[in-house]
Amino acid sequence: MFETLTAAPPDSILGLSEAFNRDPNPRKINLSVGVYQDAEGRTPVLRCVKAAEQRLLEGEATKTYLGIDGLPDYRRHVQKLVFEGAIGAERVAVVQTPGGTGALRVAADFLADLLPAAKLWHSNPTWANHPAIFAAAGLDVETYPYLNSQRTGLDFEAMLDALQSGPRSGDVVLLHACCHNPTGVDPSEEQWRQIADVLASRGLLPLVDFAYQGFGEGLSEDARGLQLLLEKCDEVLVASSFSKNFGLYSERVGALSLVARDSDQAAVGMSQLKRIVRTNYSNPPRHGGAVVATVLDDAELTELWHQELAEMRERIADMRSAFVEAMRTHAPDRDFSFLLDQKGMFSFSGLNPMQVDRLKSEHSVYIVGSGRINVAGITRANLQPLCEAVAAVL
Ligand code: LMR
Repeated sequence: MFETLTAAPPDSILGLSEAFNRDPNPRKINLSVGVYQDAEGRTPVLRCVKAAEQRLLEGEATKTYLGIDGLPDYRRHVQKLVFEGAIGAERVAVVQTPGGTGALRVAADFLADLLPAAKLWHSNPTWANHPAIFAAAGLDVETYPYLNSQRTGLDFEAMLDALQSGPRSGDVVLLHACCHNPTGVDPSEEQWRQIADVLASRGLLPLVDFAYQGFGEGLSEDARGLQLLLEKCDEVLVASSFSKNFGLYSERVGALSLVARDSDQAAVGMSQLKRIVRTNYSNPPRHGGAVVATVLDDAELTELWHQELAEMRERIADMRSAFVEAMRTHAPDRDFSFLLDQKGMFSFSGLNPMQVDRLKSEHSVYIVGSGRINVAGITRANLQPLCEAVAAVL
């Protein structure tokens, strides 16, 4: 039977890492997948994580299954961190999921199964995997505009107009809580208020992808958009992740939170989420959730985490400025200063697919086809060859 199958195309992000690994060029640079690298180009295990793992190694008493919804302490911390007291815990059902992608897929299955008439609206552009996840669950997927025509900033008017006229009541609008992937372009507080007004008045359900909390301006600052939504919308889904802010990429630690109008509806929501999880991966892996809970249960380890997160955030911001500065010398005719307003791991460089292709084939510099650069992969050592390569393809 398998001889009738044709090969699927490589993944537009993870497939690039595979190509990067095969590239024999010793000076190759990987700015594709969203993984933090330190000044030496390593993706380190955070010190707070190592300390928590040491404690787990000594104290862990069992490897028995977790409940379908995951580790209770972990879920309690997710609730505190993501919602920061904006709503009562009784209105939130949190399930631990295998990464933020797992959370999005549980949300997609939940919507496809229980609200099948809902269409999913995402920004254009968005994370390449978003449309694929929702389509795979059987949802109809639509887009709303996001960037201006120069692709340097938000076209808020176009975005709001589209949200006002496109989706129908009961549709779902996917928003990035902070550090928009792939553009790094986020709405301002005032714009979040307006988005919340439109969503609430039109009966649209926000689904918030919160994968980069702490990578923009800080843990609380990055939760501000979500808080403003919660002031107006009393039903919200949030897919969150500790891949980036705890560096726990391969441990797959995420959560889906369902905010309902009251505790009874939250309990019903939870029962459905558990049914969906059970028929997918049954229950989540323990280790990553236990690491997060161990750190956040301990004041000293939490303090250490805050420091390490700030170090990552500041290094990325430094590299963003260094890139803009260096490009002034390498390509004086081309202004990259718009990158300075962008937040988080990624920036939209404005490079077109042909230039992206040449970066790869002629310079072994790997960035995503949309022109997205993983700023967190720039180091003092690769900055110069990177800027030379970008200037050469412009
Ligand atoms: C990215 O956008 O590069 C990350 O979210 C990793 C991934 O799974 O694509």
